[in-house]
Amino acid sequence: MKQHRGSWGSNMGFILAAIGSAVGLGNIWGFPYKMGKSGGFTFLVVYAILAIFVGFVVMATELAMGRKTGKGIVGAFCDLSQKFKWVGWLGVIAPFFLLCFYVVLGGYCLEYVVINITQLFGAEALSGSASFGAMVTNPIRCMVYTFIFTAINFFIVRGGIQGGIEKFSTVGMPALFVMLVVVIIRSLTLPNAIEGVKFMFVPGYAVSAGFISESPSFINILSTAGGQMFFSLSLAMGIMITYGSYLGKQENLLKNSGIIVFADTFVAIMAGLAVIPAAVSNGIANGVALSDIQLGGPNLLFVTLQDVFVSMGTMGSLFGVVFYVLVLIAAISSVISLIEVIATMFMDDAHAKNKEGNRQKIVMGICLAFFAVSLVVAADGLGSNGVWVPFQSMLTTVAADGTVSMPVFVDCWLDFLDCLAEGIAMPLGALLMSLMVGFELGPETILPELHTGTKFRMDKFYIICIKYVVPVAMVFILLGQLSSFFG
Ligand code: PFF
Ligand code: NA
Repeated sequence: MKQHRGSWGSNMGFILAAIGSAVGLGNIWGFPYKMGKSGGFTFLVVYAILAIFVGFVVMATELAMGRKTGKGIVGAFCDLSQKFKWVGWLGVIAPFFLLCFYVVLGGYCLEYVVINITQLFGAEALSGSASFGAMVTNPIRCMVYTFIFTAINFFIVRGGIQGGIEKFSTVGMPALFVMLVVVIIRSLTLPNAIEGVKFMFVPGYAVSAGFISESPSFINILSTAGGQMFFSLSLAMGIMITYGSYLGKQENLLKNSGIIVFADTFVAIMAGLAVIPAAVSNGIANGVALSDIQLGGPNLLFVTLQDVFVSMGTMGSLFGVVFYVLVLIAAISSVISLIEVIATMFMDDAHAKNKEGNRQKIVMGICLAFFAVSLVVAADGLGSNGVWVPFQSMLTTVAADGTVSMPVFVDCWLDFLDCLAEGIAMPLGALLMSLMVGFELGPETILPELHTGTKFRMDKFYIICIKYVVPVAMVFILLGQLSSFFG
C-alpha cells in the first residue's frame, strides 16, 4: 500500500513557508551590516546579480529535484544520481549543525522579548550591553530559553506540512511584515536617521563618513555577497528540495522561485531600513564616534538596538517587544524548515519500508538530538564562559612577540558549528549539486520539471547558469567562506 505523504494546502501556503524559511536572522542581522561594510550600493548590485544568476537557478533546481522525485534530500539524490548519491547526506548534516546554534539565538530573541515586556511594566531598563552580558553569562537561563524555543518549533513541525508549517507561516509572515513596517517608520523618523540610510545606499559613504576605514576589495565583496545570498535564501540545505517535494505538479516552479528570491531580498533591505538608521541615530545622539557604532555581529541585534529602545523610554519598550517578536517569528519559520528537512528524510525512509512513519516520534527524536548539542552552545555564551571549543588550540597562533591570536573560526561554539554548516557543507553541497545536474544528469532532466504549468521558456539561461556560472560562483564562495572563517 502506498502511504500518503501529505502536501501543501495551496501554492500561497507553500510560498509563505518558503519565504518564512528564507527570511531569518540572516536578513535582519547579517544583510544590513554586510551591505554597509562592503560598500553599500556596490554590494547590493553584486548581491542582486548573484541572486538572479546563481540563487534563482539553484532555488529552481532544488524545487524541481524535490517535486520530480517526490522525496526529501537523501531520497532525491539517491533517485537521481549514481555518482552523487551521497551528497544528500551532506545535506542532512548541515541543517543539523545549523539547528544546534540557531535555536540558541532563537532563545536569545525570546529572552529579549521578555526583557522588553518586563521593562514595559516598569522594571528598570538596563543598557544593551548590560542586558547582553547578563544573558550570555547565565548558562542555565540560556538553556531554559533554548528549551522553550525548541519546544515551540517541535509543536509546529509535529503538526505536519499543512497543519503545522503552513498554518504558522500563513499567519506569521504577514504579521512579521506589518511589524517590520511599524519599526521602519519609527527608525526613519529618528533624528539623523538619514545618515544610516546613506550608509546603506550611497556608494563609498561608509568610508567617507568614517563608519569604516577602507572599502573591501571587489573579490571580497563578491564572496561576502555570495555567502550571504546562499545563507539568506536557505539554499543547499535540502530545504527547497524538501518543500518542493510537497508541491503539486501543476505549480510553476520558475515563478515561485522568482517570488521567493525577490521577497527575501526585499525583506533584507527593509530590515536594513529598520535597524541601521535607528542604530546610527542613537549613536550620534549619544556622541559615539561613527566608527564605534557597532553595526555588525551579535552586538547589532542585542546591544545596539536594545540601547535604541531603552533610550525611547516606555514607548521604546513597546517597540522593543514588537521588534524582538518579529525577529522571533523570523527565527521560528527558519528553524521549522530545518527540522522538516530531517523529519521528511525519516518519514520517507519509513514509507520506503511500507510503514506509516510516526511523525510525532521522529520530530521528537530530532529535537532532542540537536537540543542536546545546543546546550553546549548555550553554556558557551558566544565564548564568554570559557567552554572548550574543538580545534581551539590547534588553530591558535602565537606570534614572535608572544601575542596569542585566535582566528575567528574558533572563538566560540557558534562559530565552530557555523563554519561546518555555512562555511563548508553549504557551498560544497551546492557545488556538487550543480555539477551533478549540469554534467552527470544534464540540464534536460530538470528542464521539463521547470516547464510544467507554464509556457515560459528560459532553457539557454538555465543551461549556461547551472553548468558554468553556478559552479564557478560556488568555488569563489567556498574559498571566500573558508578564508573568512580561518582568516
Ligand atoms: N535563510 C535563513 C536566514 O536568512 O536567516 C537562515 C537559514 C535557514 C539558512 C534555513 C539555511 C537554512 F536552511
Ligand atoms: Na534570509
